[in-house]
Parts: sequence; C-alpha cells; structure tokens
Amino acid sequence: MCGIVGILGHEPVAGQLVDALKRLEYRGYDSAGVATLEAGALTRRRAEGKLRNLEGRLRDAPLSGTIGIGHTRWATHGKPSESNAHPHATDRIAVVHNGIIENFRELREQLEKSGAKFASETDTEVVAHLVTDEMKKGKNPVDAVAAALPRLRGAFALAFLFAGEEDLLIGARKGSPLAVGHGDGEMFLGSDAIALAPFTDTISYLEDGDWAVVTRKGVQVRDATGKIVERAVLKSNASAFLVDKGNHRHFMAKEIHEQPEVVGHTLAHYLDMAAERVSLPMTLPFDFKKIERVAISACGTAYYAGLVAKYWFERFARLPVEIDVASEFRYREAPFSPGNLALFVSQSGETADTLATLRYAKEQKQHVLSVVNVPTSTIARESDVVMPTLAGPEIGVASTKAFTCQLATLLCLTIAAGRARGVLSTEDERNLVRAMIEVPRHISEALRLEPQIEALSRDLVKAKDVLYLGRGTAYPLALEGALKLKEISYIHAEGYAAGELKHGPIALIDENMPVVVVAPFDKSARREGVFEKTVSNMQEVAARGGKIILITDPHGAKEAAALSLSTLVLPDVATTVTPIVYAIPVQLMAYHTAVNMGTDVDQPRNLAKSVTVE
Ligand code: F6R
Repeated sequence: MCGIVGILGHEPVAGQLVDALKRLEYRGYDSAGVATLEAGALTRRRAEGKLRNLEGRLRDAPLSGTIGIGHTRWATHGKPSESNAHPHATDRIAVVHNGIIENFRELREQLEKSGAKFASETDTEVVAHLVTDEMKKGKNPVDAVAAALPRLRGAFALAFLFAGEEDLLIGARKGSPLAVGHGDGEMFLGSDAIALAPFTDTISYLEDGDWAVVTRKGVQVRDATGKIVERAVLKSNASAFLVDKGNHRHFMAKEIHEQPEVVGHTLAHYLDMAAERVSLPMTLPFDFKKIERVAISACGTAYYAGLVAKYWFERFARLPVEIDVASEFRYREAPFSPGNLALFVSQSGETADTLATLRYAKEQKQHVLSVVNVPTSTIARESDVVMPTLAGPEIGVASTKAFTCQLATLLCLTIAAGRARGVLSTEDERNLVRAMIEVPRHISEALRLEPQIEALSRDLVKAKDVLYLGRGTAYPLALEGALKLKEISYIHAEGYAAGELKHGPIALIDENMPVVVVAPFDKSARREGVFEKTVSNMQEVAARGGKIILITDPHGAKEAAALSLSTLVLPDVATTVTPIVYAIPVQLMAYHTAVNMGTDVDQPRNLAKSVTVE
C-alpha cells in the first residue's frame, strides 16, 4: 500500500515528511519521494528503494520548504524506479497518490493530444496534468481540483501541493483512506493516524468521496457533491499502538472498510496493470503444464476462499481440484501422486490443522504453495513458495479483509495457471484483469450499502436461525455469510447450495426464518438458467412465508426483487469477480447484527484469532 503524508508547518518539513513516511514503512513500498516549495517553486527529491536512499538525496541536496507532501510507493502502473516514484509534478502542481486510476489510459491520451508531456509510466501522472490543464483554463487550485476529481474513476487517495501557494494543501479520498491532522498553527495529511502520531493526536478522518482544503488555520471538507461538511475531530491513540481503530468502533469495521485499499494493494502485487496481465513476482518451483491435480486445504473462512478458487481453477485453468477442510484432509489419508500441487490458504499462517496437512502433503511429495497473510508464519516458512496476501494486520477475530485478499490472490494464481497450461487466451486474460482492476472501486460502491444493511440488521437480531443460499461461486459466499453471522452475533446460521434447499433445509422455512440469497445475475451462466433456478428456489421460500433478503445486481433486482422483503443492489460487476465484491454485504450484515446484539464483535466468545491447537 502506498503511504501519503502532507505537512503545513513552520520549520523546513522535509525531515518530518521522511519521519512520517518511516511510520508508514509497515505498509510496504519500493520507492519514495517528497516535494516542497522553495521560494514558491515546486522542488522534488525522489529515490528508488528504501527511505535511507531518499534521506541520502536530501543530505546531498536539502530542501528548505515549510510546506510539503511525501509518499512511499508500492508499484502498480510502471516498475519501481525514480521516474515512477511520487510526487508527480508539472510546473504548477505536485501530487501523491494511493490506489488505482482506472481510466488513466483514456485521460492520458486526451491530455497528450492537448500537449501534455508525460515523464513516467504511472496512472498518477494523469492527475497532475489534469489539474494543471484546469488551472491553465484560469481556475484557482481549489476549483481546478473540484473540476478534475469527478473525471477520475477508481479507488484512490490524493494529496496536492501547488506552486506559489505557501498555505494550501488539498487532500481527496475515494476508496482509500486519508486523515487530516490538526496541530498548533500546523496542519497535516496522512494515510492513517500512525503516520501523523509524532506531530499530533488530533485527527479527523475523511469519508468516502470527501476532499479537504487544508491551510495552517484549519480544514474545510467538502463531500462528493461539493457541499461543505463537518467531520468529527477525534483523539487518536495511534502513538501508543501501531494499529488503531481509526474512527471506527471496532477493528472489524475498520478492516471491512480497508478492503478497497488492501485488495487494490494485493492485486497490484500480482498484476501488471498497465499491460493488463498477471505478472507473479515470484518464480513458481513447478510447471503448471505438468500439474494434473490441485489439492486445496484450509480452515473456516480461508477454506471458503479455497472453495471459490476451486470453481476458478476448474473453469479457467482446466485443472481438477480437490478441496477439504484441513482437519479432515489430513486424516482421510487421501492418495496423492507425486509432483502435483497442494495449496494452503491461511490468514495467520499458524493454524494447526492446516500446518499438519501441509506437512502431510510434503511427505507425499507435493509441491506446496501457500497463500498467507503473515509472511513470517510457520506455514509460510515451510512452503515451497508463498503468495502473500497484502491485507495488513487483521485484528478482528472474524476474518474479513484477509478473505477478499485471499480471493484476489487466488484469482491471479488461477489466471497464471490457465495461461501456463495454454487454456486461457490473451484476450480472456485481459478481460479478467480489467475486471479485477475495477474491483477496489466496486468494493467502495458496495460499502455504500452500509446504512441499508444496518437498518435491516435491526430485524435480523430477532431471528433464531438464518439460512444463506447461493449457487456457483455464490455458494461459498453463502457459507461465509452464515459463518460470519454465527461467530460474531451467536445467531444460528447455515449456508446451503440453493439447489440443496429442497433436499432438507426447506423443512425449516416458516415466517420466522430469514433467508439471505446471494445471487449475482451471472450473464455468462444465463444459458444454463442458473439465476432463474435460484429465483425458483426463492419462490419455494416465499411460498412458505420465509423472509428473503436478496443480494444481487440491477439485472437480478429487476427480475427477482418482487419476491424479497429487502434487496441489496450491488454494482453490475463481471461474474468472475463477484465473490470478492459480494463478500462486503455479507460481512456488513454480520457486523451490524452483532453490534445491535451488543456482542463483543472483535473478540467473540470462545474464538481465537490464531488456532494453534488441533
Ligand atoms: C472466521 C475465521 C476463522 C479462520 C480460520 C482459519 O471469521 O476467522 O474461520 O478463517 O480459523 O484461520 P487462518 O486463516 O488463520 O488459517
């Protein structure tokens, strides 16, 4: 994840900017830079690699400006290099950016036609030129940013510094977080309170779509419609703890809201977004062409991520997949033929059952690949190859952001497998990668359903049992929805393949039974009538008085909303990536139900974050 910092100070700020960036090192980065104003002119220092390289540049050529922005970059568009490092600048403006500008290609073409000269391969640089373009039309910095922001598509956070403006920084957030720090005659911008902890503990968090005009006197925040809004000023405890809750009540809420950013970060690790292809940064110690079968093993939520991956591997890599929960896998003495692939998925990397299965697979001469969130964990250390999920520390016991990052990673691996096996065309890969690049934005859009989900969770607290139904990759999502609800709200819930309803669970349905149906419209499966079959299942539920909560897209809502008590309408996304986007409403539903029940959301009874016993 890229890190952003901005300072309106009294003393030269370059050293402070670097200090703040050091506190963001935990997010990972490959280059860094700062920009300040020297006698009103924008001046930058940037360096590839660690912050000590940037410090070296600043020692050789110090900066004296008292206003500035800084950045640690994790490459998305364009390799790690000094020219791709932020801040990106024109003669009028410097900008730092976290996230993805999806429509950078078309914007760059338009800007180049009107004479803009680009100096990097990044998506970020279009923002600098776009705002400059507006300023050349005579707009002041604030109006220029106001005109440019609506033209940017994606999930991102930005901080701007302007030539000749000694008392102005502008920050904007859409999807990625950004906080404003309040000092004594000084003001700050930062990706999180942790970066700003050395300077201030007084923080206001921008909400999605907000942008902030910051001067030394204070901040004026506008929402996405341009209306001036107040955002609460809070005391942060980030100086005491490296990980804090931000302005959220629980870590789980914070982690749900981090997903546009961390999924974007994870995708950036495995995709070459500019080339629209998968580009794994590690060498796989096996050849997918020679793999005949994949065995996936994991526990709980990580197992459901593996179950989604089974659908993907079979469809896009034409590889047979066997999957089981780790506690069963290892004892059923499954036969393995040597040289195949055993795949393990784990947030903590310490889950005892998963680890024991990994060791068994090694004995059986399998290639061992793990998708792990804690890179120093035992599972990571004992694997032949590790694909890290870059979700950052997950504190809430109920797994949320690790799940969506696991899905993002597994889809990248599937595409790499499909390509290596010669069963996925370049065109198909490009379409899949395009759909993945849009996922962080779609997650942000899904998060906007929160007020509606909070309202319907007030009814869910009255339920004793809840059924979740789904077909295809929505089936593992139904399982995950039920697991999330039961573990944090203690309401009994079951996930079922929708087609199994009539083989038993339908007996449970009466007017007291909420039934959550996860049903993206799925155009690709239209010819098999998958969505229509789920609608038939909904009819069976409705006929028996069951209260349906439908999670779908605009097409699905048109066809089936009449059958449901509530319909959550998600954006229309490519079918393949629906499990990542549809995870958001099921997580929020469990979260708000638990909050309304008054349970200990972050540390539900009887559960541990890292299950190191069998
Ligand atoms: C559910 C949850 C658990 C874990 C499971 C595996 O919200 O968090 O079901 O998914 O205990 O843990 P890891 O992924 O650490 O192996």
